[in-house]
Amino acid sequence: MTAPQAPVPTAQTPALARRLVIAVDGPAASGKGTLARRLARHYGLPHLDTGLLYRMVALAMLDAGLRLDDAEAAAATAAGFDQGAFEEARLRGRAIGEAASVVAAIPEVRQALIARQRDFAAAGPGAVLDGRDIGTVICPQATVKLFVTASPEIRAERRHRELAGRGETTPYAAILDDIRRRDARDSGRGTAPLRMADDAVLLDTSALGIEEAFAAARAIVEGRRAA
Ligand code: CDP
Repeated sequence: MTAPQAPVPTAQTPALARRLVIAVDGPAASGKGTLARRLARHYGLPHLDTGLLYRMVALAMLDAGLRLDDAEAAAATAAGFDQGAFEEARLRGRAIGEAASVVAAIPEVRQALIARQRDFAAAGPGAVLDGRDIGTVICPQATVKLFVTASPEIRAERRHRELAGRGETTPYAAILDDIRRRDARDSGRGTAPLRMADDAVLLDTSALGIEEAFAAARAIVEGRRAA
């Protein structure tokens, strides 16, 4: 009598169906949001723009008349806000981006937002998350980590166009100042500063259009999956 054969593994074998978690980090207006959205659509995965969570905390505090540097109030806000309660156009405005980077430097705020992000990454077939600390803190075991960057001048141009497209007209020089200030605050904070994970792949999009950057990102993901 021959020994029972082990089932031949296929891509559909549940135990072997590998989850795909893609971490996309980078500085303000680097194009990481666009790439994360495109990658999510391409791989049929849900996408979480984690910057929106920090923007929601900031907006909820401003609406409640709270000071952004009130750590206790910020932590309480971060622990209990309703993600469906905000209008996206307001969240994406220039002032809220700046306010978000202030509350994001408060360790208790970051702590309060960890579970929402990890739960999102752990559900279903995988996920794409973009932010500042996805590869370093939120999903250190991500399948693929991208660190998307571009020069401050190029990022300021992109943000200028994006805001203008939404009717928010701001001089280019003021936006470049915003970008530099945010880079300094995001990279200089003590908790979960913006930095590239040791096992992340750098993608500099300064000289790339959206399609070229997306093709480069896909190639990086495919390379990692194959490995
Ligand atoms: O779109 P943009 O890159 O300008 O900003 P965002 O991704 O919406 O993030 C707004 C601010 O939230 C950033 O400047 C960071 O200070 C903070 N943030 C963070 O600290 N950690 C994240 N995972 C995402 C955003």
